[in-house]
Amino acid sequence: MHALHTNSSETLVTHDLHDERHYGAVTHPIYQNSLFTFETHEQLEEALAFEVSHIIYTRGNNPTVQALEERLALLEGGEQARCFASGMAAITAAILSTIQAGDHIICVDGSYGPAKRLMEQYLSKFQVETTFVDGKDMMQIQNAVQPNTRLIYLESPTSILFELQDLKQCAALAKKIGAKTIIDGTWASPIFQKPLSFGIDFVVHSMTKYISGHSDLIGGVVIGSKQNMDQLFREEFQLFGGILHPQSANLFMRGLRTLPLRLHKLQENGLKVAHYLENQSFIIKMNHPGLQSHPQHELYHSQMTGSGSLFSFETHIPKERMRSWSNQLKYFRKGISWGGFESLVYIPNQPDNRVIVRLYVGLEEPDDLIRDLEQAFAAIEAHPQRAI
Ligand SMILES: Cc1ncc(COP(=O)(O)O)c(C=O)c1O
Repeated sequence: MHALHTNSSETLVTHDLHDERHYGAVTHPIYQNSLFTFETHEQLEEALAFEVSHIIYTRGNNPTVQALEERLALLEGGEQARCFASGMAAITAAILSTIQAGDHIICVDGSYGPAKRLMEQYLSKFQVETTFVDGKDMMQIQNAVQPNTRLIYLESPTSILFELQDLKQCAALAKKIGAKTIIDGTWASPIFQKPLSFGIDFVVHSMTKYISGHSDLIGGVVIGSKQNMDQLFREEFQLFGGILHPQSANLFMRGLRTLPLRLHKLQENGLKVAHYLENQSFIIKMNHPGLQSHPQHELYHSQMTGSGSLFSFETHIPKERMRSWSNQLKYFRKGISWGGFESLVYIPNQPDNRVIVRLYVGLEEPDDLIRDLEQAFAAIEAHPQRAI
């Protein structure tokens, strides 16, 4: 596939060039192959010398996976993408490609739990030390720098409290101290945020969420410059072998076709539900960067062009009662993932005992979702003292 000369996400996910190799097929065929062979041994040797750009063995390059990777790189504005069997496999590969034993990492404290555990606990086996910082506070990030800091790990926005980091400033700081930057950009997806354009080195996404869009796949992607990604290919990608299956790549490509369409509708639905909640008396605080009341709303506008439909609110209603409330909901299913068609609710445990309720607003009619929230609140208000 050749580069498409457009910046439109809609066109990028829709238009495939006519491909004679595949009889002009409109969807890329699934190359269900582990192995690709050569006419001569000389050709095989030549390919093996440049594995990064040859199709030899599927724990390397596979044409179906490559078609998805090329499209994701274009969408993100990066030179190259590599897909993995999960978001965590992508995060692990990206992190390990940037550090050596004895290095120091600065990580945003609201980052995805298992990613934090990888840095804080697992990597301590290799004398890698991680300092967790409040990513809202650039001074804290600066003050955490040590002579051996080699990575600044970001997640913007974070996915429980929806706090942002200033991507341009973080990238500039990293360049100054000779460190790399990785951002988990899953919430905004490539549709609403392009971190590479701010100087970030690697973007990772859990494709399980919006890119799949149908709650039926697990996968991840790392996107970056050709130089960074070629190194990651030779090491973490090929050596760990956590590749994406060609069948799954084909389904992710199907999800990608409607990513812009879904994201715009999800943004609209999410904001409608968030605006309704914002006016309710039991809400202490809404955590949604797309709302004007969000303390980083200006930063949101300067580095994102839209919002995902996952957000949270803080309430003074005790957690047990909020659990009862969530059990009253008819359309919001109880679950931890997000990014599919279906609305979800999750009440995470917070270290400071604040009661935070996370909602994922799906593709149902938002007025139905609001009515659902209303009836669940009416039910707990009708029985203020007892569990329902
Ligand atoms: C923000 C974020 N990043 C990364 C991941 C990990 O992705 P996966 O479950 O595909 O490994 C998740 C999964 O919930 C997530 O929410």
